[in-house]
Amino acid sequence: MEIRDFVATMPENLAIQGDFESSAPSNIALVKYWGKLDNQIPANPSLSFTLSNCKTITKLGFRPIEPQDDFSFDFRFEGQPKQTFRPKIQQFLERIFVYQPFLKHFHFFIDTENTFPHSSGIASSASGMAALAVNLMRLERELNPKMTEDYFNKKASFLARLGSGSACRSIKGEVVVWGETKSISKSSDLYGISFEEKLHDNFKNYQDTILLVDKGEKQVSSTIGHDLMNDHPFATARFDQAHKNLASLKTILKNGNLSQFIALVESEALTLHAMMMSSNPYFILMKPNTLEIINAIWKYRAETKTPICFTLDAGANVHLLYPESVKDEVLEFIKKNLVGYCQNEHYICDEVGSGSVFLS
Ligand code: PMV
Repeated sequence: MEIRDFVATMPENLAIQGDFESSAPSNIALVKYWGKLDNQIPANPSLSFTLSNCKTITKLGFRPIEPQDDFSFDFRFEGQPKQTFRPKIQQFLERIFVYQPFLKHFHFFIDTENTFPHSSGIASSASGMAALAVNLMRLERELNPKMTEDYFNKKASFLARLGSGSACRSIKGEVVVWGETKSISKSSDLYGISFEEKLHDNFKNYQDTILLVDKGEKQVSSTIGHDLMNDHPFATARFDQAHKNLASLKTILKNGNLSQFIALVESEALTLHAMMMSSNPYFILMKPNTLEIINAIWKYRAETKTPICFTLDAGANVHLLYPESVKDEVLEFIKKNLVGYCQNEHYICDEVGSGSVFLS
């Protein structure tokens, strides 16, 4: 599909009102998106596990109004008006207006909450933008009931991408690919698609325990980080590597080879941070306890042969990934050896999930 396929025509009847409630989960990239072109087009393809427990629940109320020059909306976060979030929503609506020209014909009530603690260092932009995009697509489908399910999902992902790149991977589960790449047919820079191959049983209900090393605000936003990939001395090699790693990971997800999975996923995480450390200006998002945890994981893996590995987002928290079959012993290991490195001993247990849900 092309960009023009996502431009909705103005519906004849706009006199509807109501509300929708939907949830969308966070996701964790295994092959990382780092670097972007204009209009949130990724510089390289990425692949992620959709999560299950860490999610945003958003209610979108709408009533028709005489069209205004600007968007008309009330925004609440956890039941309270939240001025600081308004500019992000405003910018999102401005970016998607060309694809949903009916937006200025409604007043919106947006009520949103996360299932994970607000300042946990877990970015809520992916789940938040995805949940809002799903609700806006439900409104568009109300105005145009002929819409297919496939179009709904693609356009929800397309819109979410315009809010926050990685949000386009939070509409569907369990594994999502975003960014055009030879090894994945139908892959697109415009939206995420579900990984169509049969996942090996090793990856069913794959576990992700998020070890909260630093719950504070990031010192460098991912927007700035992406921009620093322009003119980065290693950019071309990194983008090529992401295509190759994605092709290898496709095979691994089918054959279930966990040692290859571990090697690829950890290398991707460290490469992401290596790009940050070698950009101009350079920066480091890992904290001393991030490295303590990585070393403890490597020691435990070497001693017990348990197939655990880590990945990192653009922050200090560590995502510990492991098969469901070793859940009990890994949770013991976390409690005994890792919680001490977490801020207030805080960690969140999550697992691979199936994407956004219509709640009402
Ligand atoms: O979606 P953004 O612009 O916040 O970028 C996310 C980038 C990483 O989380 C570091 C990697 C990824 O692919 O999710």
